[in-house]
Amino acid sequence: MKITVVGAGKYGSTTVQRIAEKGFADEVVMTDIVEGLPQGLALDMNQSRPIERFTTRVVGTNDYGDTAGSDLVIVTAGKPRKPGMSRMDLLSDNAQIVGGVAKEVASSSPDAVVIVVSNPLDEMTALFQRVSGFPPERVMGQAGMLDTARFADKVAERLGVSPLAVDAITLGSHGDTMVPVPSKVTVDGKPLAELLPDDEVEELVQATRDGGAEVVALLKTGSAYYAPSSAAARMAEAIARDEGAVMPVCAWVTGQYGIADVYLGVPARLGRAGVQEVVELDLTGSELANLRAAAEAVRTKQADIDSLI
Ligand code: LAC
Repeated sequence: MKITVVGAGKYGSTTVQRIAEKGFADEVVMTDIVEGLPQGLALDMNQSRPIERFTTRVVGTNDYGDTAGSDLVIVTAGKPRKPGMSRMDLLSDNAQIVGGVAKEVASSSPDAVVIVVSNPLDEMTALFQRVSGFPPERVMGQAGMLDTARFADKVAERLGVSPLAVDAITLGSHGDTMVPVPSKVTVDGKPLAELLPDDEVEELVQATRDGGAEVVALLKTGSAYYAPSSAAARMAEAIARDEGAVMPVCAWVTGQYGIADVYLGVPARLGRAGVQEVVELDLTGSELANLRAAAEAVRTKQADIDSLI
């Protein structure tokens, strides 16, 4: 399995490190426009192998030729947010960057499955698919895994339980119309509604929506990367191992939940071919209404993409 990560910033390089250490790829190629950066990071990571006990070969390059024939490509290229910015403020700059990457990937790795993580996530995923011409099931975005992890961790912190005791899911957009799904949250198998009053659940839902901005406001120099890279690496693992695991991802929706022809955060089964199916959960009436509202919000923005490329 050959995996390419485009972008050697914090998100890209921590994703490479996590994938390399997990050991499910033979080779991870990290490419960036900055000369020396991916090469230096790759050298450093490879020299951790005798201690960390992994054999994945990490390659740093500025040349898409070295990425040729990748089975999976993770696109982290683009600018991150600064304090006070919404993800949408990145739209036109990152559209140029991600559009350029899509052309390179389409010619160097025409059979790859692609995970986009650049922001604004739902729009950049749609743009990558449009520019690459890849079938939609081979292009997906990472956001739901991250937003779900944030939701689960906030529930665990609030209740003082292990983060591993919490099962959660977050759907919708990676933005203001994010849809954390409280009816599906359980703690040691018990529904969240039995453990917290509605107003406190709503506070956790809003804190999850604001989770990325909370990190940006503290870091001041960029956005989160530890939890985001965990999310991207977990998706990569499910694809590489052809697991058929279901996880929330930004996927092309074709009628599920009464929604069609839009990229949106939904539960999807992942394997070597990409998204095998979009899975329909039983949602409450208000959760379903919120998911449909998210679909219309991102549909409007995704329709603007043609003017950006
Ligand atoms: C976040 C960015 C990466 O949510 O979108 O942290």
